[in-house]
Amino acid sequence: MKVTVVGAGAVGASCAEYIAIKNFASEVVILDIKEGYAEGKAMDLMQTASLLNFDTQIKGSTNDYSKTAGSEVAVITSGIPRKPGMTREELIGINAGIVKQVSENLIKHSPNIIIIVVSNPMDTMTYLVHKTTNLPKNRIIGMGGALDSARFKYRLAEALEAPISDIDGMVIGGHSDKGMLPLTRLATRNSVKAAEFLTEERLEQVAADTKVGGATLTGLLGTSAWYAPGAAVSSMVQAIACDQKKMFPCSALLDGEYGMNDISIGVPVILGKNGIEKIVEIDLNDAEKAKLIESSEGVRKTNGLLEL
Ligand code: 2OP
Repeated sequence: MKVTVVGAGAVGASCAEYIAIKNFASEVVILDIKEGYAEGKAMDLMQTASLLNFDTQIKGSTNDYSKTAGSEVAVITSGIPRKPGMTREELIGINAGIVKQVSENLIKHSPNIIIIVVSNPMDTMTYLVHKTTNLPKNRIIGMGGALDSARFKYRLAEALEAPISDIDGMVIGGHSDKGMLPLTRLATRNSVKAAEFLTEERLEQVAADTKVGGATLTGLLGTSAWYAPGAAVSSMVQAIACDQKKMFPCSALLDGEYGMNDISIGVPVILGKNGIEKIVEIDLNDAEKAKLIESSEGVRKTNGLLEL
């Protein structure tokens, strides 16, 4: 399986690194517009291979899409990241043009590719790829919920004073500070509802901390995070490459599911060799349904800024 990662910045490089370390792909091509940068990252990563025991070939390219030909999956991380105090939505002006061009170039060389969009504002960038390419909807997937759920589990483990391996939980809705919907009601520790261990106030705090997970890191790091985004997207690539049929919340184009149409937003999906194999409709209560609708309104507002 050949995988392309567009963007050799921190998220792209850490995504390539985790894919290589997990050793399931034969080749990872990293591509960047900055002369020599992707080649440098690829060479540096390849020099870890004997230390970390992987056989994945990592190659770098300065904007030569012919090197990506025959990729089965591509991850788009290109564009600018947010700075402290910025929302993901503010990046739309610059990132929309980049994501459109990148996806067209990828499809030119790999017509059957599965595209995972990471660039922000992610739900809107995913919608843009749906609107501007002819790829079937199961082959365009937004990465947000896998990351937000990992941050949710981190906060749950902290509140429960439990190891993360004890925790399960999921975040759906838009990948934005306001739009994220951590499903606290369904979160568990070893099958026991988290609500049995934590007060409602503490659970609300967990949800609030999760929603600003990205912003908190941007404040600390001066730019947006990369380890957890890279790990989240590498798990999605692995689920596709190994046909794992694993469930992740991902930004998927809805066609009636959850009562919505013509929007890409975070919902649970099954990832396998065809990309999105299925959108899973879970029973939400009235409050959760209302929050998901509110979240979709925010995503639609940002989609409205696209020049389609
Ligand atoms: C985040 O850190 C990359 O959107 C991203 O939340």
